[in-house]
Amino acid sequence: MADLISQKGIENHLFSSLPVYVFESLDSTNRFAKTLTEDFALVVADCQTNGRGRLNRSFFSPKGTGIYFSLKVKIPHLYENVPFITTAAAVAVHRAITAVSNVKSGIKWVNDIYIGNKKLSGILCEAVDDCHVVIGIGINYTPSSLPDDLTDIVTFLYNKEPLVTRNEIIALIVDNLLDITSDLSDTSFMEYYKTHSIVIGKKVLCIQGENSFEATVLDIDNQGGLLVKTASGIKTLSSGEITLRLTN
Ligand code: BTN
Repeated sequence: MADLISQKGIENHLFSSLPVYVFESLDSTNRFAKTLTEDFALVVADCQTNGRGRLNRSFFSPKGTGIYFSLKVKIPHLYENVPFITTAAAVAVHRAITAVSNVKSGIKWVNDIYIGNKKLSGILCEAVDDCHVVIGIGINYTPSSLPDDLTDIVTFLYNKEPLVTRNEIIALIVDNLLDITSDLSDTSFMEYYKTHSIVIGKKVLCIQGENSFEATVLDIDNQGGLLVKTASGIKTLSSGEITLRLTN
């Protein structure tokens, strides 16, 4: 199946109407999307030379085998809605992945998508100003030759012939995201988020900069906060600076 990312190819599957920018290569679709003046826009690249991840990490973005895009959205009262945007993005990606493949994936707090113990997708949300946010999504679509440090920790949506094109998957996620983010007062997607969480009930290592502590995840609250039991009592963690490592 031909799988070329194109503006027309995406628009053919998109119900929403918004400007769509497609590039063969960009440093980072998030960086480019943040320079745009439109309230809503979609930026897609076939590869990124400086793909960015959370906590200033890089995101490996080779040509032809991944999905890399950023959706710029206008959200009134952005700052109070930030936790919902992050979780909404994970829900939109998880729903789309489930619809287009047979894989059973789960959401690792705060917004990584995993298959088993390997990462399939990462999401980086960045505020542009007090009412615009860029939601950047990266999905490992088909196998690529990985750097040594990634071989054991990432996985792909399709290990054999892809069932659905990248254009179609991008359009599906974007429609889903625009739908959820159009009314964040409706937090019903949080139920979906919790149902598909792979961390609730698990022992985890919480890593914060140079420090780390063990915890058991009790629940995820309606603001997307992680309720954990630690040696020093029960705490609610917010996503900002914390990474989780599953330990059982
Ligand atoms: C993470 O795993 O920490 C988040 C990864 C986010 C990667 C996507 S790819 C498209 C967009 N552009 C970027 O530079 N990053 C995001």
